[in-house]
Amino acid sequence: RWPEFVQIKEVGPRDGLQNEKKHITTSDKVNWINMLSETGMKEIEYSSFVHPKWVPALSDAHEVGRKIKRNPAVSYSALIPNLKGLELGLEAGIDGASVFMSASETHNKKNINKSIAETYPVLEEVVKEAKKAKKHVTGYVSTVFDCPYEGKINPDQVIRVCDRLLEMGVDDLSLGDTIGTAVPTQVEELLEPLLARFPKEKMIMHYHDTRGMAIANIMTSMEFGINRFDSSVGGLGGCPYAPGAAGNVATNDILYLLHGLGIKTNIDEKKLQEASLYIQNKLGKVLPSKALAYEVSA
Ligand code: HMG
Ligand code: MG
Repeated sequence: RWPEFVQIKEVGPRDGLQNEKKHITTSDKVNWINMLSETGMKEIEYSSFVHPKWVPALSDAHEVGRKIKRNPAVSYSALIPNLKGLELGLEAGIDGASVFMSASETHNKKNINKSIAETYPVLEEVVKEAKKAKKHVTGYVSTVFDCPYEGKINPDQVIRVCDRLLEMGVDDLSLGDTIGTAVPTQVEELLEPLLARFPKEKMIMHYHDTRGMAIANIMTSMEFGINRFDSSVGGLGGCPYAPGAAGNVATNDILYLLHGLGIKTNIDEKKLQEASLYIQNKLGKVLPSKALAYEVSA
């Protein structure tokens, strides 16, 4: 009924920290990513090579990339908006590039300052150069269910964007419930036509947990055979250009679910808890993960 193994990509150092008011120092980020690297996880999105004026919290992406202690079992990727970002990312030693755009015209414009049509040629060049450099490329599609500006997004619109990204040569796609509004019937309405067209092995689901629906949506996604999810330590995160967007589903919560169902992840919950408390302490606020809060109080 469910997959035997689920691959988790930790996006806390990128999606988590990009929206936090309190900026974490470079050396604290490096220590934290080093701790995450020892939990057994195989994929960490560690920062973002976007314009530092737009996302100041991640303006040290280059330095972080140079200073982290690389675990050869881990792939360290970063968010890349254009060729300039790719050039900086390659210098910093990224293993993977995550390009990103939105299924909603208005969110795309607010987030990356271009229309959808203007975005394609920019990403096409990035994908081409990243593949030339033998890097793994993930294509994020944001607002696949609802947009904070346009409301409901038609699955056809999402499929069109996925089609173009796969045509460009991305290795896989991460589909974002950017503002965490979806309920399981919306997941079904998208995954039915999407998986009739594209292989499920290429699909990653990226849920934000704004309304506490992420775990239900993950269950529904697994019923469709999806076994790759993005998550953030403690439930950190949000998109600075999507009003009302709260953090990603917490890595702690998804591990509690998966391990309880007997699904393997290779991630050590105790080590993850230590890394969660480290960043919680640095941010000076309690993180939203319920599993983490319970573990700490127990
Ligand atoms: P723009 O201003 O349209 O860019 O920004 P431009 O190409 O016109 O360049 C303007 C200036 O920026 C130039 O400098 C460039 O050199 C510089 P000037 O010549 O004026 O001195 N520049 C850069 N500098 C450093 N690094 C770069 C870079 N690119 C240009 N990479 C851009 C376009 C995309 C760069 C900008 O809009 C941007 O950085 N946006 C950031 C958006 C962002 O990070 N959003 C949050 C992440 S997305 C998300 O969270 C959703 C996700 O989690 C999935 C989900 O949940 O749905 C992924
Ligand atoms: Mg996100």
